[in-house]
Amino acid sequence: MKVSINQFSKLKSQGEKFACLTSYSYCEAVASSQAGVELLLVGDSLGMVVQGHDSSLPVTIADVAYHVRCVRRGNHGAFLMADLPFMSYYSESATLENAALLMREGAQAVKLEGGAWLAESTRLLVERGVPVCAHMGLTPQSVNHLGGYRVQGRDPKRAKKMIDEALVLQDAGASFVLLECIPTELGQVISERLEVPVIGIGAGPHTDGQIMVLHDLLGLYPGRAAKFVKNFLTESTDVQSAIRNFVMAVKAQEFPAPEHCYD
Ligand code: KIV
Repeated sequence: MKVSINQFSKLKSQGEKFACLTSYSYCEAVASSQAGVELLLVGDSLGMVVQGHDSSLPVTIADVAYHVRCVRRGNHGAFLMADLPFMSYYSESATLENAALLMREGAQAVKLEGGAWLAESTRLLVERGVPVCAHMGLTPQSVNHLGGYRVQGRDPKRAKKMIDEALVLQDAGASFVLLECIPTELGQVISERLEVPVIGIGAGPHTDGQIMVLHDLLGLYPGRAAKFVKNFLTESTDVQSAIRNFVMAVKAQEFPAPEHCYD
């Protein structure tokens, strides 16, 4: 069955959680979409988990387009979202051209990192038929500005700003908001205040959907894992069942557990 964009709002209104995973290759897309993952993201974390860089900044639009092509071939009906990588949406024309490139390759929505300053780009894309996901909280493309991969929105003023900016982006037409690495309470407030589906990674159990990087779910990425990561392979017999267990844990609201969340 094909998952359309409307499905996510329907799930939100029914209070049913949905499961999302990054995907970079044909086999990953087959495994995840057949295991019931509703949304596949060709994210720019590919810079780290596929290309071996220490950040997502070196990823180009051509890299993302290549992986969208690979994933599209293996996708069995999940909704396919792709990241606009670092500096690929610095102007109106760059935003439109790069989003068009990814949509032509088979993406069904694009994800951009930032806050209220993205309202104009969001409007521009949505008016031209490109669904937008606004990525807020910890935005890895700004790691140099943020001073590291840190929890965002702990300070009450910044938390309020994030809530206000999420509403601005919803008003501009964003179809999803993705929240990364923020306190559980803030994830809950934003998820409840927004009408559009909210996807979380390290944003607590109250967001409408949960996303993980597939390499983290399988314990493939070397080094210390973030607090919000769970290796599902350790309790599963194979990759397919690890992904299926992730989907079931999200639906049953067993993941993320308190140990994966921030105060
Ligand atoms: O690129 C990425 O992996 C992401 C995460 C939020 C899943 O954007």
